[in-house]
Amino acid sequence: MTALSGDSSVRAIADFFEQRTGQHLGESRMWRIETVLRDVMRKHGLGDLHALHARLQRDPYGELAAGTIHCIMNHESSFFRDLNVFESIEKQILPHLNRTLPEKLLRIWCAGCSTGQEAYSLAIVLKRQEHLWKDWRVSILGTDISPFSIEKAQAGVFQQMDVQRGLPIADLLRWFEPNGDQWRIAQDLRALTSFKVDNILDHHAITGKFDLILCRNVLLYFSPELRAHALSRIARLSRPDTLLILGAGETTIGTGTQFVPSGAFRGAYDIGGAGPAPHMLDRLAG
Ligand SMILES: C[S@@+](CC[C@H](N)C(=O)[O-])C[C@H]1O[C@@H](n2cnc3c(N)ncnc32)[C@H](O)[C@@H]1O
Repeated sequence: MTALSGDSSVRAIADFFEQRTGQHLGESRMWRIETVLRDVMRKHGLGDLHALHARLQRDPYGELAAGTIHCIMNHESSFFRDLNVFESIEKQILPHLNRTLPEKLLRIWCAGCSTGQEAYSLAIVLKRQEHLWKDWRVSILGTDISPFSIEKAQAGVFQQMDVQRGLPIADLLRWFEPNGDQWRIAQDLRALTSFKVDNILDHHAITGKFDLILCRNVLLYFSPELRAHALSRIARLSRPDTLLILGAGETTIGTGTQFVPSGAFRGAYDIGGAGPAPHMLDRLAG
């Protein structure tokens, strides 16, 4: 193995990160690598980035690799992030699914769910319209590549700082209970959700088809090829009228995948343009 200088170790670790996650680190994010990995290196008794990279090559799927990926990754999330998306889900998309799904079964997937705020925000929305979903089997699956984020999502315990961002006070009081200086999510919401470690680029144990898929702020830094690969995997877990929602600034256009902008729901995509025509919008909204 050739010796790597500091800079080339940074690049090698950035390449490892991209191969495993799809996330391309631009120069501006790359300079942070050494800083964010300091704790991981200390914990594993590694003196420098060169030693870290050598160990990652020997054990690319172990605890050290998971810790390295977690530390470099951007996990930014908040409750009801991009409120207009949740308003559209609540007022248009969920009522539409409620009217059109053939069985009383609703499956939602949050791919790249980070620490769970997105999945729990959806659970709150579903609870607000409990009358619609009374006899239904409803489930929200949150997946993320980071086992540390998934563990936190499963625990459902959030800092004061987390619940102050985006969560209406009425929902905080209704759906959380104080837990020391933190807040624990109510069992009713937890019952609607489950969380699993999953790399969106791999073929994993997720089965069945989802009716609504959120994959927001995950694919932004993927190369066009890997974005297409991730979208084709999402397509395999979709029905013809499944709706896909990406983050602001993300699009399926130009990826060569089946997903096209939905004619009815702004910001959503479906496969082959199936779904209600634009003139149905007012009826769906009503
Ligand atoms: C910026 S956060 C967005 C969280 C949430 N979707 C939101 O919009 O609030 C991106 C999340 O995607 C996850 N992620 C990145 N690449 C992934 C991959 N290849 N497979 C699964 N999850 C991934 C990260 O671990 C991180 O938690």
